[in-house]
Amino acid sequence: MIGKDPVSQGHESVMLEEVVEALKIRPGGVYVDGTFGRGGHTQAILSQLGPEGSMVAFDRDPDAIRAGRDVFAMESRLKLVHRPFSELAQGCHEAGFDQGDGIFLILGSPHHNLILPHVVLVSSMTVLWI
Ligand SMILES: C[S@@+](CC[C@H](N)C(=O)[O-])C[C@H]1O[C@@H](n2cnc3c(N)ncnc32)[C@H](O)[C@@H]1O
Repeated sequence: MIGKDPVSQGHESVMLEEVVEALKIRPGGVYVDGTFGRGGHTQAILSQLGPEGSMVAFDRDPDAIRAGRDVFAMESRLKLVHRPFSELAQGCHEAGFDQGDGIFLILGSPHHNLILPHVVLVSSMTVLWI
């Protein structure tokens, strides 16, 4: 149900395996993480993407984006966007993508080592943003 990843620095990513499985990742696909946090889910998806795949990850918290830009500095397949996911369409367009192959939101406490109820939304369908 919960996975640990080195990029998350001890933070536990909720339903990590389930999210990856539900996305049915295609190596060349485009995937959108609406709630990047410490990047545990993003890292797991990147590990299954091929060199031609891409991810766009959003977070409204500037600290999350700043830390992510450090940790993923060498990851050219990832675009990190400092916006709320309510601005997903604009952010994805600006990142250079008009559609995607999967999207997910992990809504819950961002506090380290605190497991509270979360809401996990995953779509593995082709997603168009307008
Ligand atoms: C449960 S954490 C995400 C966990 C992350 N997937 C991981 O593995 O580390 C939730 C994150 O969503 C972000 N968040 C909450 N509401 C948001 C919103 N409306 N738009 C973008 N990010 C949001 C928070 O800042 C927090 O970093």
